[in-house]
Amino acid sequence: MKLAVVGGGSTYTPELIDGFARMRDTLPIEELVLVDPAAGRLELVGGLARRIFAKQGHPGKIVTTSDVDSGVAGADAVLLQLRVGGQAAREQDETWPLECGCVGQETTGAGGLAKALRTVPVVLDIAERVRRTNPDAWIIDFTNPVGIVTRALLQAGYKAVGLCNVAIGFQRKFARLLDVVPSEVHLDHVGLNHLTWETAVRLGGPEGEDVLPRLLAEHGDAVAGDLRMPRELIERLGVVPSYYLRYFYGHDEVVRELRTKPSRAAEVAEMEKRLLEMYGDPQLDEKPELLAKRGGAFYSEAAVDLAASMLSGAGSPYQVVNTYNNGTLSFLPDDAVIEVQAAVGTKGTAPLPVGGPDPLYAGLIANVTAYEDLALEAALRGGRERVFRALLSHPLVGQYEYAEKLTDRLIAHNREHLAWA
Ligand code: G6P
Ligand code: MN
Repeated sequence: MKLAVVGGGSTYTPELIDGFARMRDTLPIEELVLVDPAAGRLELVGGLARRIFAKQGHPGKIVTTSDVDSGVAGADAVLLQLRVGGQAAREQDETWPLECGCVGQETTGAGGLAKALRTVPVVLDIAERVRRTNPDAWIIDFTNPVGIVTRALLQAGYKAVGLCNVAIGFQRKFARLLDVVPSEVHLDHVGLNHLTWETAVRLGGPEGEDVLPRLLAEHGDAVAGDLRMPRELIERLGVVPSYYLRYFYGHDEVVRELRTKPSRAAEVAEMEKRLLEMYGDPQLDEKPELLAKRGGAFYSEAAVDLAASMLSGAGSPYQVVNTYNNGTLSFLPDDAVIEVQAAVGTKGTAPLPVGGPDPLYAGLIANVTAYEDLALEAALRGGRERVFRALLSHPLVGQYEYAEKLTDRLIAHNREHLAWA
């Protein structure tokens, strides 16, 4: 089995390698190619990756290359985890929206639109190269904004599925609180990427008993604390929103907070510098503790599980993925990309049925789906007016005065990445 990771020079990669090494029986990789244009960083990450495999007795070969075509050639699955423009571009996304009183965030709101515009053309180019060498290869996309990028891939006919670690994070957390093994916890998870709610927490599988009311009664503080939302709000909702919902439910509060501290991108850039220094140490042969301070906890486990199911059926039968709606949420178009539990296997993904969600959040899902549609139009076809339309449709922008100002700023800050600007 051959796997390629595009964006393999990411400081996150050792997390992935650690997962591949620990779960080698589920996913027996013979060759792993790390592809990245940043040759220096790739060397450091590749070196540590080989040491992790060696220490854990993984027989697989690890290859590094900056050439996408040779890197993905013949791979059974290709993982995309790239970031066009790096943390520097993210820093911009997190900063200029604040000038207009809007949240500055890498995937939500105007910053997320900027990221989509930079990313979609690059990802489509890579997907085409993958298809040319192996039309059967699965593309597993972690690249944000995952909902929009996955829709771009599916719409263009590629074999793709989108993945995020929010659901697996909840699964692990709830398992700890309930004192059961994670595989016992099945979430009813509904929404769009980075816009989801856990509507039930079942024990044993999709038909299991729903213990969410008990979880909230006994551990409400622990659940709400991580989300940085009041416990009372979670109890009133009766479902658990992801922490990305704070950008909606607590928008103005978050804006005030973001204005008083360095951006997350700046924090991450600082961490990355230290991580890369550590990776260069030939004695280091495991993922360092510091990596746990990044948001990607458990993403390796989610990735291994998904790849294992899609390549050989060896992973969990149900997993939370980003895939076509196909009637699952009746109020959305079939070709919207949603994030839900799905049956996952070698033939692909099939969402499990979801009860008609409460209007309390169904409205937001519908609104952001429409925004994602317009965002993808803007990413594929370019033009100032398409950017404006996407921003005007976004529930966190909405007013034309803000949409105009944000459009100008988005274009000004991203000119080098936008072919049409
Ligand atoms: C979570 C999200 C990812 C996002 C990451 C950011 O894992 O699901 O989509 O990329 O957080 O983490 P960072 O450490 O870069 O802020
Ligand atoms: Mn995510």
